[in-house]
Amino acid sequence: MSTEQSISALPPNHRLFDGSVPKPWVESLEQYQELYKESIEQPETFFSRMALKHISWSRPFTRVKQGSFEAGDVAWFADGELNITYNCVDRWAYADPDRIAFIYEADEPGQGDKWTYRRLLQEVCRVSNVLASFGLRKGDTVAIYMPMIPEAAVAMLACARLGLVHTVVFAGFSAHSLAERVQDAASRVIITADEGLRGGRVIRTKAIVDEALATCPTVERVLVFRRTGNEIPFNPSRDVWWHEATAKHRPYCPPVPVSAEDPLFLLYTSGSTGKPKGVLHTSGGYLLGASMTVKYTFDVHDGDIFCCTADIGWITGHTYVVYGPLSLGSTSVIFESIPTYPNPSRYWKLVEDYKITQFYTAPTAIRALRRQGDSWVDSCDLSSLRIIGSVGEPINPEAWNWYYKKIGREHCVVVDTYWQTETGSHVITPIPGAIPTKPGSATLPFFGIDAVILDPVTGEELKGNDVSGVLAIRSLWPSMARTIAGDHKRFLDTYLRPYPGYYFAGDGASRDKDGYYWIRGRVDDVINVSGHRMSTAEVESALILHPQVAESAVVGAPDEITGQAICAFVTLKDEVVNDNINAELVALVRKEIGPIATPKHLIVVNELPKTRSGKIIRRILRKVVAGEADQLGDLSTLSDPTILDILIKKVEVSI
Ligand code: WTA
Repeated sequence: MSTEQSISALPPNHRLFDGSVPKPWVESLEQYQELYKESIEQPETFFSRMALKHISWSRPFTRVKQGSFEAGDVAWFADGELNITYNCVDRWAYADPDRIAFIYEADEPGQGDKWTYRRLLQEVCRVSNVLASFGLRKGDTVAIYMPMIPEAAVAMLACARLGLVHTVVFAGFSAHSLAERVQDAASRVIITADEGLRGGRVIRTKAIVDEALATCPTVERVLVFRRTGNEIPFNPSRDVWWHEATAKHRPYCPPVPVSAEDPLFLLYTSGSTGKPKGVLHTSGGYLLGASMTVKYTFDVHDGDIFCCTADIGWITGHTYVVYGPLSLGSTSVIFESIPTYPNPSRYWKLVEDYKITQFYTAPTAIRALRRQGDSWVDSCDLSSLRIIGSVGEPINPEAWNWYYKKIGREHCVVVDTYWQTETGSHVITPIPGAIPTKPGSATLPFFGIDAVILDPVTGEELKGNDVSGVLAIRSLWPSMARTIAGDHKRFLDTYLRPYPGYYFAGDGASRDKDGYYWIRGRVDDVINVSGHRMSTAEVESALILHPQVAESAVVGAPDEITGQAICAFVTLKDEVVNDNINAELVALVRKEIGPIATPKHLIVVNELPKTRSGKIIRRILRKVVAGEADQLGDLSTLSDPTILDILIKKVEVSI
């Protein structure tokens, strides 16, 4: 029996039932099972009811679900019409204008402010009017490259109000990565800020945009929000100040009804090849997934203060900072800073100051803060918390237990939520009050998700419990991505064709004796650094731009804090002597992709392990960097086994 199977499940937490807090939406395992069964066996009835309950439709749908994985033509609520921003902002602004939509915690503690739904509606409308004045029309694409400030969310909602497709690019990406994404989406406008602030450091946001735009001919206008007020490059024939433009427009703009299947956004994510994929999400199904998971996974009730620390440049920020919480009329915290600024109490002070009820972060932050010692936590009042979440990578039981005991004070429910950019919202997750948790397991599938484990080689479903293989989903669900922008074939090849009839997630997983899912990590050439997906091919392509590099191979090395770290191997062209090569290569990757892709280990070797036909055997490199050089497995395809000893020694001294 493996260790995790011997861990007994913790019961749903009793604090949820002690009368001091609202009763959970799903009150028992039996109720979860009943709803889950209905969601799988009668998805049309179940999701029709949910869609009517959670979403306000300007034209009601008559069809619920259509299409298949085989044909790749999935659609939900296709003849229904809605406006996302109306759902997320207007309905609450009319019912309760003074309710707080966003609590903005700026980089410097105590700075920032609160945004009522009334204010949010007005600012969104002004920005929508500015975008319309640029000549943008439904279906046009707008890139957003901004710090974590409320205006970033305003920009997204302003696009959605007009039926424009937004593509948010994480502001830690380089000019080159930004340009690649802007070009791929053919964005006509970029919304940005003069500068960003993170942990007291200034980020020259607009200057990066200018550099990117040198290769982006489709961009006609740049709308610039003034965050710091410092002097920045400004091109008056193209650039427009946010505060000047919005002052010219009235604070109302009619929402444009769109089809449930009209695109809402593109979000680029790493795949097995070097080219990022523009994952496309549509309006109705995505919003329903966002809304339902905030409600059920986080058991959100009226008056709750929801805090997700993810940047809006990632899917977690899209779904759990902006669309999900607002679709329920909740209050969402927008956190501009980093967890250790000015000290490692920052998150916990935030919880205390704003009486946060749901807190959602990544294992890498939990591990890093745990390492700082408990005194940073013990000094804070965390009694407002009910649900604490984890996302982005597997959470090890030690980190889970610390989170549960120290942050949750043993009376909160830990929800380890498994999902992806492509799934739109949670697919495997505990439901507080209903599903007993086990440290390190994402537990059971969310409503509508018929999760299966497949044999990776035969593609056969592994029935029953106590099985391991690759994770796949057999049912269509509302918030699944519909395509990759401009490359539907790649969408089919990546997700729907590897195992016909299933959505293939790209993760290894097992189902234990109780039917609980344990996610093992990626089975493709994607590595997960601090919860950020990185394509090894993308880093390799950056490295070989260096004139002295002959070949490169990148693998993930296990890392105590970040989960995985980027470990890059390179061979150099003949007889190069350059003592500075490591620093140059690191700088090159940072410039090409961005600081998030910084290799932690850079190892120059004479030879890479290859097959006789010349293919690099990354499996060997992965084993060596994991300290498992004694378990290299079948080496019969290796063309020159004599290189192994040198390689292993080199890794030993470098890591
Ligand atoms: C990984 C982030 C284990 C997984 C929402 C997935 C997880 C990839 C978990 C998606 C979790 C995400 N446990 N692994 N709870 N959550 N992952 O698209 O490998 O940035 O395929 O979406 O992160 O990363 P993405």
